[in-house]
Amino acid sequence: MRTQIVAGNWKMNKTFQEADDLINDIVEFINNNDIGNTEVIICPPAVYLELASDSASETDLFVGAQNVSEHESGAYTGEISAAMLESMKIDYCIIGHSERRKYFHETNEVLAEKINRAIEHSLRPVFCCGELLPEREAGKHFDIVKTQLTESLFHLKEDDFEDVVIAYEPVWAIGTGVTATSDQAQEMHAYIRSLIKERYNEDAAENTTILYGGSCNPKNAKELFANKDVDGGLIGGASLVAEDFIKIIKSF
Ligand code: PGA
Repeated sequence: MRTQIVAGNWKMNKTFQEADDLINDIVEFINNNDIGNTEVIICPPAVYLELASDSASETDLFVGAQNVSEHESGAYTGEISAAMLESMKIDYCIIGHSERRKYFHETNEVLAEKINRAIEHSLRPVFCCGELLPEREAGKHFDIVKTQLTESLFHLKEDDFEDVVIAYEPVWAIGTGVTATSDQAQEMHAYIRSLIKERYNEDAAENTTILYGGSCNPKNAKELFANKDVDGGLIGGASLVAEDFIKIIKSF
């Protein structure tokens, strides 16, 4: 059975005290409730990774970075390497988020290198893919996602691919309050699974966790997660409020 995941992408939010409070609320919830097979991940800004990882070490909580450099080490001011994250015992790393693609011009080629660094340093990538609104309106969404996966992810060997989590995040749904319908999410997730089967095999396809992201909230999470090929969510805005994030965790 594949892992169900609820991951919180905090983006560039929270002061130190706010981050500490939110982490404590999530840890307290996990310590006092049975979350079954659901894996909970928080991806705070890099400056709070140590704080998060210290708290997570005592409970069933996983920690992810929001980005990683494509370079191994060296003169890249402001960047954070996969080796650093590995040495801090960080479990996951979001790679290819649409905000990184848009504002930091990360191409499929650069993202393939980031994926390589993550795998080399035992970080499980949460690879984001998804189309822009005009691409969906033009009926190109399947092609766009196929190209993103082919150019950034499908060079991995089968063994390495086992560590990958995919997040389908239609860009038009991110932070907009417009969620993909349950049918739109299921259709794309099933398509992604078929691509994995075609590139690797049936087992790889069945075992890969595919998350939905884009205005997922306590109201719509249950319906989205009920889909056969939707294995959880990558949550932005709603992961910043403990009560909302916890409701989403309970949505399985
Ligand atoms: P959102 O963000 O839930 O605020 O739409 C999701 C994401 O960007 O991962």
